[in-house]
Amino acid sequence: LDQPMPMTRETSFIEKMKKTGRNIVVFYGSQTGTAEEFANRLSKDAQRYGMKGMAADPEEYDMCELSRLSEIDNSLAIFCMATYGEGDPTDNAQDFYDWLQEHDGELDGVNYTVFALGNKTYEHYNAMGVYVDKRLEELGAKRVFDLGMGDDDGNLEEDFVTWREQFWPAMCEHFGVEASGEDSSIRQYELKEHNDINMNKVYTGELGRLKSFDIQKPPFDSKNPFLAPVTVNRKLNKAGDRYLMHLELDITGSKMRYDSGDHVAVYPTNDTTIVTKLGQVLGVDLDTVISLNNLDGTCSPHCTALFESAEALYQSFVLEDHRNILAILEDIPSLRPPIDHLCELLPRLQARYYSIASSSKVHPNSIHVCAVLVEYTTRTGRLTKGVATNWLKNKVAGDNGHKSIVPMYIRKSQFRLPFKASNPVIMIGPGTGIAPFIGFVQERGWLKEQGKEVGETVLYFGCRHKNEDYLYQEELEEAEKKGVITQLNVAFSRDQEQKVYVQHLLRANKEDLWRQIHKDNAHIYICGDARNMARDVQTAFYEIIEELGGVTRAQATDYIKKLMTKGRYSQDVWS
Ligand code: FAD
Ligand code: 2AM
Repeated sequence: LDQPMPMTRETSFIEKMKKTGRNIVVFYGSQTGTAEEFANRLSKDAQRYGMKGMAADPEEYDMCELSRLSEIDNSLAIFCMATYGEGDPTDNAQDFYDWLQEHDGELDGVNYTVFALGNKTYEHYNAMGVYVDKRLEELGAKRVFDLGMGDDDGNLEEDFVTWREQFWPAMCEHFGVEASGEDSSIRQYELKEHNDINMNKVYTGELGRLKSFDIQKPPFDSKNPFLAPVTVNRKLNKAGDRYLMHLELDITGSKMRYDSGDHVAVYPTNDTTIVTKLGQVLGVDLDTVISLNNLDGTCSPHCTALFESAEALYQSFVLEDHRNILAILEDIPSLRPPIDHLCELLPRLQARYYSIASSSKVHPNSIHVCAVLVEYTTRTGRLTKGVATNWLKNKVAGDNGHKSIVPMYIRKSQFRLPFKASNPVIMIGPGTGIAPFIGFVQERGWLKEQGKEVGETVLYFGCRHKNEDYLYQEELEEAEKKGVITQLNVAFSRDQEQKVYVQHLLRANKEDLWRQIHKDNAHIYICGDARNMARDVQTAFYEIIEELGGVTRAQATDYIKKLMTKGRYSQDVWS
């Protein structure tokens, strides 16, 4: 898209609101795009009530201006705040979070409400939303509607819709306005076709920095990704019906630094077969260059839910049946929106995160990834392929000549080896959960080579069959031989009748574990599946502490909580 970006960005949301006659600003703290999407929907909703909203990324604006919001009549700030990692703000809300912590009461007369996005499987459920809601009140702002709590483990969409249905009537009452009857399908963009376009002006980059794919200039981040050549791409498992892969991305010359435990974010590209089919279904020539021009001059991204008026249908037809946009169009032949309207509705393709499977001490110029291919058949019989993993699988690795490129950046994490190498570490990572521990083991090996005193390094890995998916078997056994891994425990879940999981091996080694944790200050790390494994492993620790520490379950829970606070029980888990 050829959307001219202003040379200097408007950092005053107050001035922008005044200039464009808006009274509602919806800030989003978003990591994967959901909070951003909710913010866009809320901002669009406002039109139904004769009000005007704008969605805003707190990173792009001067948030000190919040105190000036009361200069605008009937104004309101809505915050859609996702919680990330271990109760952390999302990257784009980090500065706002710091600002909230550092400032004292100055928000008198500011109306606000918060919708929190999180996942109940995580310890710090909705910590960020809860904090923003509480802190804004402490600073003198007025909560005009109760905090909404969205749970991604349950049904986030439903939580949001329920909250929103109660929120708008309450706002109408608060501001003394009535719904205008206009629905939220009001168009925000108009289409312009370009027949004699200068191809240099065509969109080539990530939002926020349009030329980022053409002009590579550090620093590299989410808005300016580095185009890393793929140097290695190999299948990890020897057999079995799944496909696990190891990739190496070359970051030479990027000036990017990483630590073991960090994540690499990858921007994939959609499957061209699906995109081509979409063009065919809609009867459009996808080689036409178009621009979507915002009808009132703002650059807020484009999206709203297609099935907003039919939530139940959305739940079953879209979510449960896993219909992507192409499948929806294929199954509803009467539905043929113009391409520009579709572009307005579709959210941006999001980056995927991978736990870095290397140590920068050993590989300063490359980042390794261990990933499992996502592929499954939906209820409608369609083979659905995960966007990023299928795209990564087809990346051609090479030393020279044609090399595949991956747009990526590094995301810092809190998943860190102990400051003192002499502290023992206990790493638990079945499946692709092994990824960060490959980095940890490399780093401990390197420290040992430097002559440092390195403490016990214990690994619990799990896979289905020894001869199929024992990932990094050679590397791990080599590290054990060298004494870098002091204890290598592998649970092969399907090599015998009874399932054997990492937590079974933990229980079998309970005396060792209790000594390592209670006497020797071991750090515990868990990586991989958030839904079941992380919880089951935590339960195993509760039981071990109860039994060997001679304490109650409540005390054992408290024991783990304290370890977490001290940074001695860390999780890098995803679902
Ligand atoms: P997508 O196109 O995003 O599709 C995934 C979708 O498919 C999801 O909605 C899911 O619910 C659904 N789905 C998947 N399988 C099925 C099924 N059988 N039936 C029905 N629905 C299904 N992944 C790794 O492999 N290695 C890592 O080291 C790693 N580290 C991560 C670290 C973090 C902090 C996070 C947040 C995630 C990590 N992930 C990792 C997951 C990774 O980011 C991607 O989510 C994953 O690779 C899938 O991406 P995709 O684009 O291929 O799939
Ligand atoms: P399964 O598939 O045979 O059930 C990596 O995916 C390994 O984790 C597999 O061996 C898998 O076993 C195992 N796994 C599945 N659920 C688990 C759980 N709740 N806790 C620990 N490991 C689990």
